[in-house]
Amino acid sequence: MPHADSAMIPPGMDKIAFWAHVHEQLSHLLDGQRNWVTNLANASSLVFNALQAFPEFGTGDRMVNWCGFYLNSELFPPPSLTAPMATEDNRFARLLLGPFCGKPACQLINVSPERARGVCADAYRQKKTILVQDVEAYPGHIACDGETKSEVVCPLLLTVSGEERAIGVLDLDCLGLSGFDERDLDGLEKIAKLVVGACDW
Ligand code: SME
Repeated sequence: MPHADSAMIPPGMDKIAFWAHVHEQLSHLLDGQRNWVTNLANASSLVFNALQAFPEFGTGDRMVNWCGFYLNSELFPPPSLTAPMATEDNRFARLLLGPFCGKPACQLINVSPERARGVCADAYRQKKTILVQDVEAYPGHIACDGETKSEVVCPLLLTVSGEERAIGVLDLDCLGLSGFDERDLDGLEKIAKLVVGACDW
């Protein structure tokens, strides 16, 4: 199957069937590739374009306008030998913008205990998915696009030596209030698990 067809959505699906379909398409798309940049780029594109093709999200004031990843900055190649290290609990701990679809977004999100702010930082630090029905009512929300009204952020969790670590987040934004519900949360958590397991970190 051509890769571009992965984002096609058969008509008449409900949300649960939609997320199961996206999960299956993504598992095929990631098969045979373990590089995280490549896989997260294709994952953000597949999820974003599948949502665009799904009537509940694809059009008008309920459109999903952003879908992408932020990753612990330690996963990226170091910019220089003198750059400070970003271990999980020191003051330099931060997420860096990874592969995404949508308008340009903020590049750095601080996740250190004293400076963490926003939905991505909270989902990352709490290691749990956060559904935000109204971004303006969320304390510390970071507005990358003033048109975004609601959001869901799911942590990427990797088990290292028996310990579950957050390594990044998957973030979706919507132009409508209360754009996402528990079915989306469940679907996204399964997508996040698939993506983490499909890559070498
Ligand atoms: N709103 C996020 C920032 C990332 S953008 O939505 C792409 C936050 O509060 O962490």
